[in-house]
Amino acid sequence: MAYNTILVETQKEIGIIRLNRPDAMNALNTEMVKEMGQALDKFEDNKKIKAIVLTGNERAFAAGADIKEMQDKTYMEAYLEDFITKGWEHISKIRKPIVAAVSGYALGGGCEVAMMCDVILADETAMFGQPEITLGIIPGAGGTQRLTRIVGKYKAMDMILTGRMMDAKEAHHVGLVSRIVVNKASLVEQAIKTARKIGRMSLPTILMAKECINQAYEMSLSAGIRYERRMFQSTFATRDQKEGMKAFVEKRRPTFKNQ
Ligand code: CAA
Repeated sequence: MAYNTILVETQKEIGIIRLNRPDAMNALNTEMVKEMGQALDKFEDNKKIKAIVLTGNERAFAAGADIKEMQDKTYMEAYLEDFITKGWEHISKIRKPIVAAVSGYALGGGCEVAMMCDVILADETAMFGQPEITLGIIPGAGGTQRLTRIVGKYKAMDMILTGRMMDAKEAHHVGLVSRIVVNKASLVEQAIKTARKIGRMSLPTILMAKECINQAYEMSLSAGIRYERRMFQSTFATRDQKEGMKAFVEKRRPTFKNQ
């Protein structure tokens, strides 16, 4: 399938999506969000794909929703089309793990898309922020909710009310970044390596683990633990649990069949 705003490739069991509007700092316009959703769906449906890498270019992961596209939108248009729901929310519904590789700016909707991913790797040039307030709006793709849950009220207030950016070091310190990759040239390589490491595990078990972690943001602790317990127990219904434990006892690497 030919895309205008993204580049898509597969490397064995890993699907890779590169946001590709370099002249606009990868600003997320309607077409890009739609194409990203289509590519994610294709990877989700492809049985060979175990994990996905989402990245941008050296200057920007994505500098937010496309300001030029939305500047003249009226309230009624935004409301009736349920602006920032269609397509955007789709990313957070993908069951396979998504590793974000962030170089340069991840601002506004770009930061929000990164926060919809499951692992965030950043190089030392990465800059995160929710600058919407400087445009006279507030974050609209989950920034006030996800950022607050990740970094806490006071850091989220600082970021969202002032619109300032944080660098990779600060983002790592507050838990927004999983890992900093020191060598910029190897960021995507490291993301693929991470995705591949995840991909070597049992797919149903990966999906269950991701689902349980995401439930931690939706449920009370006791309900979440009960949810986890039932999922944990259900892993004993998989062939891969038998293989994983047998391989440990036999001192060899497991060969998971994703069943
Ligand atoms: N939308 C549309 N175009 C954008 C853009 C955006 N979010 N971000 C950058 N661009 C465009 C610029 O307009 C410029 O285009 P022209 O060459 O045609 O003028 C081009 O990308 C390069 O950008 P700059 O010249 O500004 O590059 P810079 O290096 O000086 O600055 C930057 C880079 C700090 C990222 C700056 O471009 C910037 O502040 N961008 C906007 C960031 C922002 O406010 N994001 C939030 C958007 S709202 C949102 O995302 C809502 C939501 O919650 C979903």
